[in-house]
Amino acid sequence: MAISSPTMNVMVRAVERAAKGLVRDFGEVENLQVSRKGPADFVSQADTKSEKTLVAELRKARPEYGFVLEESNEIPSQDGRHRFLVDPLDGTTNFLHGIPHFSISVGLERDGEIVAGVVYNPITMELYRAEKGQGAYLNDRRIRVSGRRELTASVIGTGIPHHGLGDPERFSQELSHLMPRVAGVRRMGSAALDLAYVAAGRFEGYWEFGLNPWDIAAGIILVTEAGGYVTEVGGGRSPLRGGSVLAANAGLHIHLGKILRSAGEAAAKQRESRERLDKASAGHLEGGSA
Ligand code: 2AM
Ligand code: CA
Repeated sequence: MAISSPTMNVMVRAVERAAKGLVRDFGEVENLQVSRKGPADFVSQADTKSEKTLVAELRKARPEYGFVLEESNEIPSQDGRHRFLVDPLDGTTNFLHGIPHFSISVGLERDGEIVAGVVYNPITMELYRAEKGQGAYLNDRRIRVSGRRELTASVIGTGIPHHGLGDPERFSQELSHLMPRVAGVRRMGSAALDLAYVAAGRFEGYWEFGLNPWDIAAGIILVTEAGGYVTEVGGGRSPLRGGSVLAANAGLHIHLGKILRSAGEAAAKQRESRERLDKASAGHLEGGSA
């Protein structure tokens, strides 16, 4: 049985309350799929409502703590030490499409360091939590990262660039480098749950670019408390601020990092040579028309 600090109890209660609303709204989303416009506005309201519930619950119990929020502006802390990093609905695209894989994520930062995190999947009723030095739990069961050391037996989670964001060329290279070497690559759609899956030993690793602090704050402490490693893809120590994340068990972290970085180099070379060709052909055209 997990021993929880009072603040962890507050976080769990807030998440469970917000989850009730999300589950109700998710049921409604299915009915709205058939309308031409789809449930986009409804989902954005569900998202905002979830955030309001979380902030109200957390503020009631910890009025001096600040907030970093996905859906609204930051609320500065009164004590200058504590901030909650809140994602009221992680996996919005899944939610919008009626795919039952999304979560609520709440991290707690103390003096610049993440010291606690909760990630909850309200559909499977899986609640992941971790506090610094206390281990990571799935519901009441202690979890550990996977013990698999061989890449060939590994399942790796990731996020795919979309909507013209991120670097699709680099992602294609990463996939080409990784695909032949692993048992499978998964794109599930909730970064917070991807990290929770690494913590629970379901994924051996996970990487993604372009994430925000609220997507990964709780997930990072889940993985580290479960005995895993979390860095930026380039190896940097600040995934929360660096914009990319690579999480894995100790045995595979270095190995995955090397593969992803060499994929990054291949993408950079590809881009350079394309730019050279483009320049040359532009010069050729100019020369030809003169
Ligand atoms: P969200 O559902 O809260 O937007 C999918 O790869 C993951 O990336 C999700 O956790 C998603 O969180 C996150 N993400 C961050 N920025 C995003 C964006 N601009 N569009 C879609 N997903 C984004
Ligand atoms: Ca998110």
